[in-house]
Amino acid sequence: MTKIIYVLNGPNLNLLGLREPEVYGHDTLDDIAGQLEDRAADLGMEIDLRQSNHEGHLIDWLHEAQSIGAHAVLLNAGAFTHTSIALYDAIRAIRTPVIEVHLSNPHRREEFRHVSWVGRAALGTVSGFGAESYGVALEAAARL
Ligand code: DQA
Repeated sequence: MTKIIYVLNGPNLNLLGLREPEVYGHDTLDDIAGQLEDRAADLGMEIDLRQSNHEGHLIDWLHEAQSIGAHAVLLNAGAFTHTSIALYDAIRAIRTPVIEVHLSNPHRREEFRHVSWVGRAALGTVSGFGAESYGVALEAAARL
């Protein structure tokens, strides 16, 4: 059976490509989806990539990942990473492994980005490699 990987993206990531390209690069979320689809197919997996600016959608999709039996979730929660105890609780509430993903390396940036509620609950974190952070996380998910 094909393994499904949920790739969940939080606030402002719909603006990738336009948004602070010196920090986040020039790839759009659609570009990243295309790259991941090809890579997932090579690994015998399928991705389901979504984006929302609303915290509750991300929580619902985490629950859904478990209920449909997804193999893993790659989660770039954007700024909710640093604020959302509700996301921390949601990750802890499901058995589906969650890998935290960031394009930038939050630890090299402002102090307020150094706290990660997502990272406290996630299995692991990939950050700082631009769009390639998602690719590395996908490879890691394939081996789980
Ligand atoms: C981000 C890092 C967060 O600090 C920021 O709020 C984002 C993007 C990243 O992918 O580098 O929106 O998650």
